Amino acid sequence: MRRDFSDLFDTTKPLVALSPMAGFSCVTYRGICHGMGSDYAPTELTSARSIVMNGLSKSYRFMRINPETEGVTCIQLFGNVPEDFTEAMKLICEDELLGQVDIFDINMGCPVQKVVKTGAGSGLMRTPELAAKIVSECRRTAESLGKVLTVKTRIGFSENMKNGPEFASMLAGSGAQAICVHGRTAVQMYAGQADWEQIRLMRQSVAGSGVYFFANGDVTDGPSARRILEVTGADGVMIGRAACGNPWLFRSVKDYLLNDTEVTDNGNISLREKCDMLIIELDGRIKEVGENTAVKEMRSVMPRYIKGFPGAAPMKVALCRASTRTEVKQILDDCLKGREDER
Ligand SMILES: Cc1cc2nc3c(=O)[nH]c(=O)nc-3n(C[C@H](O)[C@H](O)[C@H](O)COP(=O)(O)O)c2cc1C
Repeated sequence: MRRDFSDLFDTTKPLVALSPMAGFSCVTYRGICHGMGSDYAPTELTSARSIVMNGLSKSYRFMRINPETEGVTCIQLFGNVPEDFTEAMKLICEDELLGQVDIFDINMGCPVQKVVKTGAGSGLMRTPELAAKIVSECRRTAESLGKVLTVKTRIGFSENMKNGPEFASMLAGSGAQAICVHGRTAVQMYAGQADWEQIRLMRQSVAGSGVYFFANGDVTDGPSARRILEVTGADGVMIGRAACGNPWLFRSVKDYLLNDTEVTDNGNISLREKCDMLIIELDGRIKEVGENTAVKEMRSVMPRYIKGFPGAAPMKVALCRASTRTEVKQILDDCLKGREDER
């Protein structure tokens, strides 16, 4: 039941995807971004070991997908034991909803110490043989389940270990059907500028393999999306932080890349539209996890929506203290009312 990455999308045009971000790329937000033009979005990382040990229920909320709002769906797993991945993939496919997933993505880029010290995430860049085994076994399992297998990784583990090109070529040779590269080493975490030249070298190392290649790191608008594609030779682009609280970004990047129009609506989204979208995301999250958790978890997301607006600072403080939907709505309404009175 071989399924190719290109069976899922029109790959004749560059794909623009929401990069997975723990705490941000929940099912609601992924659906919102897809509505604005994001081609797809992996879930945030979930532990394959935890699924094997505890079953699906503990991790379910992080893996929840919605094919209706998201289009193509992708669940990202992390771990360091091949059998954990393959077992987790099988368990996921036994679930009525999760079993509809199109893509399994293996995380080989997470730099968080808790993950790296187990040898998982970007730790796998230090053990390429194990990484290869994980990919080849996962690919075999994915194929038997009718799913596509992709990997997200970095340019290397550290400044002294920029093994990206060999690593990427190993991933393609072991069966990864798409690769996304974040242009930083694990040691860099998210600091400094993403190194697009290293991404180019990795792209080059898989040329002719048929693997779909995403470049990722520091894309913030249409022009930077075009530049990263030109510099790296990548097929598509993933956008992370710049898309937090800014789903409109996908509309403008897509327009810029595909229609050659410089749409600047990114800067022209009104505060009212932003507040309305914030409430749409909050309501979706409330349905997912209940009001209490949703409002708490939105505390890191809400400031992203209102970033850059005059008077955003006190509003952010108030939003971060809110604990109910009513409080959030009141803060937004007060702020919007104040602005309308000014006019
Ligand atoms: C808060 C946060 C959480 C993240 N969580 C994940 C994750 O779960 N899985 C993953 O592969 N990458 C994760 N990343 C990395 C992003 O997907 C992306 O590779 C990185 O932010 C660089 O892209 P950007 O410059 O467009 O943000 C995370 C990044 C941030 C900032």
